[in-house]
Amino acid sequence: MFQENLQTIIENGEEKSAIMKAAKILKNGGLVAFPTETVYGLGADALNEEAAAKIYAAKGRPSDNPLIVHIADTKAVYELASSVPDKAIDLMEAFWPGPLTIILPKKDIVPKGTTGGLSTVAIRMPSHPAALALIRESGVYVAAPSANTSGRPSPTTAEHVEEDMMGRIDMIIDGGPVGIGIESTIVDLTGEVPTILRPGFITKSMLENIVGPVEIDKALVETDSNLRPKAPGMKYTHYAPKGELSIVEADDINKVTQIINDLILEKEAEGYKVAVITTEEHKSLYKCDNVLVVGSSKKGETIAAKLYAVLRKCDEIGAQYMFTETFSQGELGGAIMNRLIKAAGHRIISENDGKKYVNLL
Ligand code: TXA
Ligand code: MG
Repeated sequence: MFQENLQTIIENGEEKSAIMKAAKILKNGGLVAFPTETVYGLGADALNEEAAAKIYAAKGRPSDNPLIVHIADTKAVYELASSVPDKAIDLMEAFWPGPLTIILPKKDIVPKGTTGGLSTVAIRMPSHPAALALIRESGVYVAAPSANTSGRPSPTTAEHVEEDMMGRIDMIIDGGPVGIGIESTIVDLTGEVPTILRPGFITKSMLENIVGPVEIDKALVETDSNLRPKAPGMKYTHYAPKGELSIVEADDINKVTQIINDLILEKEAEGYKVAVITTEEHKSLYKCDNVLVVGSSKKGETIAAKLYAVLRKCDEIGAQYMFTETFSQGELGGAIMNRLIKAAGHRIISENDGKKYVNLL
């Protein structure tokens, strides 16, 4: 594996040659990790079943978990999907290139090895210039899940990709830290009403402004129900650090910090390594050696951008118990809490028994 630092490449005026090298690898059925505006992706030729199979092997990903096909031109949608409803066209126009994935019925050219056996296909046009250049230069449609080992937090820097994928893939394009930090919003457009299968930067209200009423997959909202999520990937434990993460919520921050400080004392007395996940504004409220700051409570986008790096940090320091505040405020709150709840394996400590304050979407 060789790694290309896009920043260095840009400075040396060699950006094009790195993209060309990566494009050649994709064309020949190899694996390339590349930056997108959401998280780093692990790309392969989407129409080459053998190449797609390599993604599953490199990630240790269950074979029923379909891949998103990345494109650089809306014309591709008509080659990949057997029907493209008006609402899909409106959403593509409004949000592409950008952090929105749409699900449509697939055409036969898309192998089931790419769609996890499903007869639908997920399609997205990313906005990151390196991603677009790579797709264009390779001339193939690029199947790309997040470039992490299955179950770990998605990579938001090239170093995260390296941690997980060293020796398993052919090349990493290093574009520095990504902008958004959580994966694209997924909308299923195969039914009557568009349905959000995974919340992200493009929110329900942003979608509704374009296409009218939008539903949310019920399995996402009912956090402790046994409903099966419609996006196969959403059913797996995900984004999870190695230690035990719990979310602590109450109706005011003083109660939250009191509960967390009590838990820190208890776990440290038992000899465990403990970490707290909090914001810049609240960090001084905790009595713990490992206070990990995820961003500003006033700005959801700073929390989204750092969340996965902080979850990875928990592993790096060997934290055995982690306690986090909720970050449900603002437009991105739903998407952040969706990821956090999965990372915590649904462990939520509420101030009032049974009463949940987590505002999901
Ligand atoms: O932001 C993103 O979407 C990133 C970047 C790299 O583009 N990609 C990403 O891919 O998050 P991945 O594979 O980690 O997540 C894709 C999700 C999974 O939950 C998968 O089950 C779902 O999309 N998915 C893919 N195809 C689907 C389909 N045909 N029907 C329902 N869900 C699908
Ligand atoms: Mg993923």
